[in-house]
Amino acid sequence: MTQPIAGELVSVLGNKLKDCALTIKDRRRLDDHYSRLARKEGYPARSVYKLGEFDQKYKLFRPELKVLDLGCAPGGWTLYAAQKVGPRGLVVGLDLKAPSQGGFPPWVRLLVADLLEPIPSQLSDMKPFDVVLSDMAPKTTGRREVDQARSLELCQAAWAVTEQYLRAGGFYLFKVFESPEADELVKQLAPFFSRQVRLKPKATRGQSTEIFILGLGFKGRS
Ligand SMILES: C[S@@+](CC[C@H](N)C(=O)[O-])C[C@H]1O[C@@H](n2cnc3c(N)ncnc32)[C@H](O)[C@@H]1O
Repeated sequence: MTQPIAGELVSVLGNKLKDCALTIKDRRRLDDHYSRLARKEGYPARSVYKLGEFDQKYKLFRPELKVLDLGCAPGGWTLYAAQKVGPRGLVVGLDLKAPSQGGFPPWVRLLVADLLEPIPSQLSDMKPFDVVLSDMAPKTTGRREVDQARSLELCQAAWAVTEQYLRAGGFYLFKVFESPEADELVKQLAPFFSRQVRLKPKATRGQSTEIFILGLGFKGRS
């Protein structure tokens, strides 16, 4: 039998590695319990189970609340909150892009806007909110410091809205990529709430550095 020359060997090994990578990727996708559950239960995103977990633990939502959902697309949190607050409540979802899936109840309003730009004037007409949620996330670059800085910038923008439009006694839930600067922001916000908790939900992907900060009992603007 003739021996394969070095080039052929490299190519054969390369293809084997590609197959391997695909298998791992496919398996991860297949194994993604929360994505499958979201599809089965009619939610547009697996992130809904993060909010569900927080709600179960802290009893966050009840009928008639007015909720502002920042970074709402594709709409999982919006739909969850709408189901919880019911027809006498209101959920305002804001995102750079409109959620692709329709099927929101009539007490949901959607705004397409960039929160890094001046705050859309419509929000002021609807204030105050009982709840401000922010699941906003930047497009990740793979460069840790850049992604952390962008995530922090979104949190600061979300806080600017919260400070103005959250009613006293309301709660705030926001996502941030962990970093020393994010820790600093969390420390600065703590005095504005009666209680602040740091959360890492089960539905967060293994490799993610995201954490959630829940501020309960907003004390109002200083
Ligand atoms: C993880 S997704 C939110 C998922 C959503 N909570 C759900 O359950 O379907 C993050 C969203 O943040 C939005 N986002 C990022 N930067 C934003 C900005 N500057 N203004 C508004 N939305 C932004 C993105 O467009 C994206 O849809």
